[in-house]
Amino acid sequence: MKTLFSEENSVQAVLDRLGQCEDPRVKEVITALVSHLHGFIKDVEPTMDEWFRGIDFLTRTGQKCDDVRQEYILLSDILGVSMLCESINNRKPTGATEATVQGPWHAEGSPERALGENMCDDGVGEPCWVEGRVTDVDGNPIPGAKLDIWQTNAEGDYQVSSHDQPEGNQRAIFRTDDQGRYYFAATLPVSYAVPTDGPVGELLNSMGRHAMRPAHMHFMISAPGYDGLTTHLFVDGDPYLDSDAVFGVRDSLIVQFASADPASASSRNLPAEHVQVAFDFVLTKAG
Ligand code: BEZ
Ligand code: FE
Repeated sequence: MKTLFSEENSVQAVLDRLGQCEDPRVKEVITALVSHLHGFIKDVEPTMDEWFRGIDFLTRTGQKCDDVRQEYILLSDILGVSMLCESINNRKPTGATEATVQGPWHAEGSPERALGENMCDDGVGEPCWVEGRVTDVDGNPIPGAKLDIWQTNAEGDYQVSSHDQPEGNQRAIFRTDDQGRYYFAATLPVSYAVPTDGPVGELLNSMGRHAMRPAHMHFMISAPGYDGLTTHLFVDGDPYLDSDAVFGVRDSLIVQFASADPASASSRNLPAEHVQVAFDFVLTKAG
């Protein structure tokens, strides 16, 4: 006779039904899920009205999703779950560049641009020069590494989610030269809010939290024989660095965008007044 359900033995009553489960990983995951979920319900002791509000919240979260909008990932992001999964799956040796959340606004097929080109096509924003190298953990350059880069326009909108920007604006693919160097022009990243017009926005609001992400530029870097790296560079001094809505900030990724020497402007095809940042990305060997 299997355990009959009661408040005290609720976990066991559900786990007893896993006898026919053949996949050990499913068994492991469901066992942990049921144990934690019942523990949560026992801690909170929701009223039936609260239980239904939870169901309604999850229903509306699903209904908000479409081909572009993924409200469940956003929910995972603002609860710190995405960053926790990211951290568990990207434990890096000392010296390797740390990873952070990809976020929803990466698009395949960004324009391939030559080193030195400007990825800002609408000409709006504070001009900025970005340069550095891609190396392995011993400092050896990785030539031909692919850097897939994206950021918002000066208004804080990603081109893939706003239709009034030129196609490919603030998006680019660059490849490192034979010394592993990359360099390009862009604009200084700005801080912006994650989408708040859905259930996740309501939840942030009811928790008394803001929706802002500190200014950052996204990088997805790959090279044959190396683990891929998805990360950001964050702008030092941004007021939201210690309260990122999605917990993506890591100390090692906060960098200074400082005033550049005006003499460098003409070779960079930028106005005399511009900022610059230098950062070397360090990849780990695959396998
Ligand atoms: C972003 O960086 O663009 C982002 C990340 C997580 C959730 C929403 C936006
Ligand atoms: Fe972003």
